[in-house]
Amino acid sequence: MLRQMADHELETVRRWRNHPKVRAASFTCHEIRPAEHARWWADLRVDPARRLLVYEHQGTPAGVVTFTGLGTLDHSGSWGFYLDLDGLERAGALLPAWIGVERAAIEHAFGPLGLRTLYAEVLAANEAVRRLHGRFGFTEAGTYTRDVDGVAREVVRIRLDREEVQ
Ligand SMILES: CC(C)(COP(=O)(O)OP(=O)(O)OC[C@H]1O[C@@H](n2cnc3c(N)ncnc32)[C@H](O)[C@@H]1OP(=O)(O)O)[C@@H](O)C(=O)NCCC(=O)NCCS
Repeated sequence: MLRQMADHELETVRRWRNHPKVRAASFTCHEIRPAEHARWWADLRVDPARRLLVYEHQGTPAGVVTFTGLGTLDHSGSWGFYLDLDGLERAGALLPAWIGVERAAIEHAFGPLGLRTLYAEVLAANEAVRRLHGRFGFTEAGTYTRDVDGVAREVVRIRLDREEVQ
C-alpha cells in the first residue's frame, strides 16, 4: 500500500535514495546530503504537481513512489520509485516488493489521482525495470539522450493508458 510519509521518515528516505544501486538507476547520481534533501522535501510538499508516498510491503516501509507533472488538463502524470534495497534483500523480499510497488503505483495513479495516462522514464540500460514495466502493460514510447552527471545516457519513455489496465 501507499501512504503519506511521516516527517520522522525523511532521513530513512534519504538513506534509501543514496543506496549506490538507486543512485546508479537515477538521473542525478551524486550522494544527496541532508541540507539538499531537506530543501527538496520542503519544495515538494507544497507543490500540487508533485507527490511523494511511502510504499509499505507487508506492513514494513519499503520504498518511495513519486508522482510528478500532476494537475494537467489531459490528466497525465509521471512516476518513479526506489526501494529499501538493503532491507528487502535481507528479508528476501526484493522481487515481490518490485511487483508490489509497481501495482500500488498504477492503482494509485488511475484511482485516487484520477489519471488517464501514466508516464515514466528509465535508463535504457536498466533492463530489469524495463521488463517489470512491460509486464504491467507499459509500452515504450521513444528514447532520448540525457546528460546524467556529465555522461550522455539513453533514456526510455514509457506510458500506460487507463483503458489498458484490466
Ligand atoms: C530512481 C528514480 C526515481 C530517480 O529519479 P531522478 O529523476 O534521478 O530523481 P528524482 O525523481 O528522485 O528527482 C528529481 C530531482 O529531485 C532531486 N531529488 C530527488 N530526490 C532527492 C532527495 N532525496 N533529496 C534532494 N533532492 C532530491 C534530484 O536531484 C533531481 O534534481 P534535478 O531535477 O535538479 O536533477 C527514477 O530514475 C526511476 O524511477 N527509475 C526507474 C525505477 C528504478 O530503477 N528505481 C530504482 C530501483 S530500486
